[in-house]
Amino acid sequence: MTVEDVRVLHSRSAMRPAAHRTTGIVAPVTEITDFGGLAVAFDERVLRPRPWTVLQSDWARELLPSLPAGDVLELCAGVGHIGLRAVLGSDRRLLMVDRNEVACRYAGLNAQHAQLSQQVDIRCAPMERCLDPRERFALVIADPPWVPSDDCGNHPDDPLHAIDGGTDGLDLVRTALRVTGEHLLPWGAALLQVAGVDQVRAVEREVEDPALELEVLGHRVGESGAVVHLRRRSL
Ligand SMILES: C[S@@+](CC[C@H](N)C(=O)[O-])C[C@H]1O[C@@H](n2cnc3c(N)ncnc32)[C@H](O)[C@@H]1O
Repeated sequence: MTVEDVRVLHSRSAMRPAAHRTTGIVAPVTEITDFGGLAVAFDERVLRPRPWTVLQSDWARELLPSLPAGDVLELCAGVGHIGLRAVLGSDRRLLMVDRNEVACRYAGLNAQHAQLSQQVDIRCAPMERCLDPRERFALVIADPPWVPSDDCGNHPDDPLHAIDGGTDGLDLVRTALRVTGEHLLPWGAALLQVAGVDQVRAVEREVEDPALELEVLGHRVGESGAVVHLRRRSL
């Protein structure tokens, strides 16, 4: 499906932008962007898909064939492009989690447009409260907000809910690490997005906590962030 096909489909969908000429209220305008070959719909209420994050999706695609049988979990999925592109062409099921309702609605649409609806579930809830303690995943992709609160003003176009990571930028990174530690299968892997090498080092320090049962295997640096590769410490 091309970007143009999606644009046509989208123009017929329930999320079509509406111009309310009589009231003067202008609804958010849906945009479509290309994310490494995947057409992705979003609007200004959510984070615009960032091209450099194809790195995280590519890395997930690279790891998946060697991981144990099991589903993929995407934490802080937003409109879903990183996880959707990761499982495209595989038969892995994908569970996308995000607490923002608009993001979840777009994630559903984007899954539909990628013809992945049958393979995908979406939970619109805080990641720390929406998983059954018994659920386990072969791969966790996590993309929590990681901008320190004081720096959020430098990103005026980005919605605060999508970028504010608290005082040191790591509040939601820590939550994602805890959820990952609780739900990763033995021999599974996790790919966690952070701001850059300083936060990679911070994650290495966080996983020194034995309760997390995680260790860092490596990281890759992208244009505007980095991705950390983790696995279970006990292996
Ligand atoms: C950095 S954005 C990433 C979105 C998407 N992956 C992307 O690259 O555009 C972070 C996302 O985390 C979500 N989020 C923030 N706190 C959360 C929480 N406690 N549980 C689940 N999602 C959360 C936000 O709604 C936002 O969509």
